[in-house]
Amino acid sequence: MGTMGPERHLWVVFGATGDLMQRKILPALYRLQASGRWPAGSRVLGVARRPIDDAAFRSWALLSLTAAKADDPERLRAFCDATLFYQSLPDTGPTSFGVLRQRIQALEQTHSLPGNRIFYLALPVQAFAPTLTGLGAAGLHSGGWTRVVIEKPFGWDLASAEALNRLVHQYFDETQVFRIDHYLGKETVQNLLVFRFANMFIESLWSRERIDEVEITVAESLGVEGRAAYYEKAGALRDMIQNHATQVLTLIAMEPPATRTEDSIRNEKVKVLQSVARLAPGDVVRGQYTAGAVAGTPLLGYREEPGVAPQSDTETYVALRLKIANWRWQDVPFFLRTGKRLPLKATRVVLTFKAPPVSFFQTSEEYEANPDRISILIQPDEGFELAFEVKVPGRELRVQTHRMKFHYVDVFGELPDGYETLLTDVMLGDPTLFVRADEVEESWRLYDPLLRDPPPLTFYPAGSWGPAEAERLAQEWGRRWYLE
Ligand code: BG6
Repeated sequence: MGTMGPERHLWVVFGATGDLMQRKILPALYRLQASGRWPAGSRVLGVARRPIDDAAFRSWALLSLTAAKADDPERLRAFCDATLFYQSLPDTGPTSFGVLRQRIQALEQTHSLPGNRIFYLALPVQAFAPTLTGLGAAGLHSGGWTRVVIEKPFGWDLASAEALNRLVHQYFDETQVFRIDHYLGKETVQNLLVFRFANMFIESLWSRERIDEVEITVAESLGVEGRAAYYEKAGALRDMIQNHATQVLTLIAMEPPATRTEDSIRNEKVKVLQSVARLAPGDVVRGQYTAGAVAGTPLLGYREEPGVAPQSDTETYVALRLKIANWRWQDVPFFLRTGKRLPLKATRVVLTFKAPPVSFFQTSEEYEANPDRISILIQPDEGFELAFEVKVPGRELRVQTHRMKFHYVDVFGELPDGYETLLTDVMLGDPTLFVRADEVEESWRLYDPLLRDPPPLTFYPAGSWGPAEAERLAQEWGRRWYLE
């Protein structure tokens, strides 16, 4: 595990004027500071191209934090003034990195920081390599510890992820590297291990003996939201499936780890990825939203969104089916899907149980066989539900499906944002909830053939559940999608 307790340090955030900093990183840093979860006296140095000074950066940060409703304005202002600094980096050449090095050293001296540094690359994928090279060549390692946090997507295919790993390892040891997948910071995603391995009754059902199919849905009602420049090159497979949905898959399917340490857990996740049978083109449906409506509000089609090419081939929806060829899951279908502009935001895993071998109730006209299901609600309405069959009271034999429900909010209130959890772990040096080098490569390996030879695009109206073609994936394997 990592070092004991967080030590005073300097965050150096590249991409400091970007969307991610504004919406996620800055509010998380503020909350960590405000709740005393970061070592007093730590500082943040924002780095980006924009030629602005500390004061302008602080004003921008204050506006962002106010918009995020992080706290009352006075406290926010005090945080910005005392904690935030800014250094413009016009390019990634040695001169600019030399200036950055001097700025870091000066800040550390003025604020008596011990030289512990966290470099956070909140950057587009194409900027990772030049920034890592610049950091490494400038000798930005210091007397204290150094860690590097790298956002997703880590590469855009297998070859680029491998090259990026080689580059990272030229300058950093794997224990210093924190590849972020913010789904791993979500309480309900971490709870998957507790749900399975602290509950014997659950785990004893968790295999091909009892489970008939597993469905993982990451649905979003949002569209591309002004991120066309990034999304046009990424698409749903790279943006959601290769990372978030695949991480959920590994936690659902993995074997119990030997211990709770980071490598035990990550070893088991890697084994799942290694056991996935190779995907054929017919196992995948790519979709793109066309104009439509949600609750009477008209919505643009993807190709009409600002910054999107009129003939864009980028998918905003992916559905796929796979099998995990191991002792626990052999022959059990796993269905994964994600999409933008679906009817609602919902990340859920549904495990459907096998039907009873013999049914005594089929003769009743009222009864339509409904398999038992466990639904894990990752977000929103976090919790889980168990759908099961109940006899309706009365002389006549009637059976109905009902649900037992557990919702986090009823017991624990609102859940913290995943970023706070992950940033705390970076400060502590605990990589358990981050993606290891071999793990990221294995997940790219799974999807690489599809990226090189993508199946043809299909279309779905905004506000619908995606292309009809996705039904085929389930039907051909004698199954259906459950969340609707
Ligand atoms: C990001 C993707 O990683 O995750 C976005 O780039 C997506 O396209 C977002 O909207 C979804 O995150 P969450 O936490 O809202 O489910």
